[in-house]
Amino acid sequence: MNESATRFREENGEDRMPDTENQAQVGGSTQPNDLEAFWLPFTPNRHFKRDPRMIARAKDMHFFKTDGTPVLDGTAGLWCSNAGHCREPIVKAIQDQAAELDFAPTFQFSHPKTFEVASRLAAMTPAGLDYAFFCNSGSEAADSALKMALAYHRLKGEASRTRFIGRSRGYHGTGFGGISVGGISPNRKFYGALLPGVDHLPDTYNRAEQAFSRGEPEWGAHLADDLEKIVALHDASTIAAVIVEPMAGSTGVLPPPQGYLKRLREICTRHGILLIFDEVITAFGRLGYATAAERFGVTPDLMTFAKGVTGGTVPMGGVMVSKEIYDCFQDETAPDHAIDLFHGYTYSGHPLAMAAALATLDLYRDEGLFEQALHNENPMADAAHALKDHATILDIRTIGLVAAFDMEPIDGLPGKRGYDAMCHAFHNENMMIRVTADTIAFSPPLMATQDHISEMFEKFRRVLDAVT
Ligand SMILES: Cc1ncc(COP(=O)(O)O)c(C=O)c1O
Repeated sequence: MNESATRFREENGEDRMPDTENQAQVGGSTQPNDLEAFWLPFTPNRHFKRDPRMIARAKDMHFFKTDGTPVLDGTAGLWCSNAGHCREPIVKAIQDQAAELDFAPTFQFSHPKTFEVASRLAAMTPAGLDYAFFCNSGSEAADSALKMALAYHRLKGEASRTRFIGRSRGYHGTGFGGISVGGISPNRKFYGALLPGVDHLPDTYNRAEQAFSRGEPEWGAHLADDLEKIVALHDASTIAAVIVEPMAGSTGVLPPPQGYLKRLREICTRHGILLIFDEVITAFGRLGYATAAERFGVTPDLMTFAKGVTGGTVPMGGVMVSKEIYDCFQDETAPDHAIDLFHGYTYSGHPLAMAAALATLDLYRDEGLFEQALHNENPMADAAHALKDHATILDIRTIGLVAAFDMEPIDGLPGKRGYDAMCHAFHNENMMIRVTADTIAFSPPLMATQDHISEMFEKFRRVLDAVT
């Protein structure tokens, strides 16, 4: 048995030992503890199955391994458990909802909580984003927003507006729309020609100009002007929408340069191009506000959200839509039976998601979690930037309750140091951190105290020592 399997057996006990070496078939399926059958997303599967990182339960700021060891959650799961884990009011709301109404269709029917959640979200998001469409993930939210943008222009008589403009290093999930406007090569190159007619803005990161910045870097607003060049090339009459994350998250945390988003907004407005903010990570307190749009004072025409809306407890996503766009789909002259939007998902507005969202939004409000995140922004930035002098660190970026560390890649093995750091943090420091290539991101639940933040970076210093 290899070393990691031995460690897993020691940590988790014989009965939990995954039987990867002896995959006995029981009644046509493999044994329950066999790790073979599950194909993990975005994971090196062979290594995981040799060296599993298994989570059994969670509470507040911690996960727990199967042997009960607490694991400090430095990442709010996957940027989603903003309220902390297994919070009683949310758990109870989901349990009660499952017993009362397990499912109701929202094609041609609905249930009261869908309207309640939509109204709450319309009140929390910037004025003008008055309508909410629901789906089940950030990827669906991105694809929904793109489709709405196309349909809107067509209904307005501008059917030639079919191009989308994304951004290099952008992440908008893994649907065909999302990867087409996204700017991450490995997510795109395996999947053919993607959506036609998509162009990309340059990303906003420049280490020489921005290294070790806190909040929005001073340099880079002018990069928004590249949109003018793209418009000049394709003509505004062919462009439906620009989609960006206000703070790019998945490719290593790139806060927007000061003034950049305002310039994008101005250029879009000037040319009749819709602006979509993908707020799947940034909404619900991550930057100390309900939305990044609020923090940066820029209102898009469409805003996607997911993750934090239910604190990750039940899958849910959605799109906030401006009144102008919604109204465009409401044809007063159409007969009563005419559907206005030919788009939706069986689980749009699922009762469990709605109940979880209401309870989560209540908790954010009642515990002042967005304010707590804002209050902890500077202490978190101070603690993160204190690691600046570590030999392997090339850059540190912080904003809201987010910190990212670029580590020097190992020669010829890009991504290995980051991966080793993530594994070491879990096994040796009992902490979950997020890795993208050689960048490590921290985004703890918003309930994190300054003690949690200090603990996170003390552990991380030891991780850095171990992988240097
Ligand atoms: C900005 C952004 N958009 C979309 C997504 C995709 O969300 P999901 O994984 O729920 O489909 C993510 C996920 O991290 C994201 O960060």
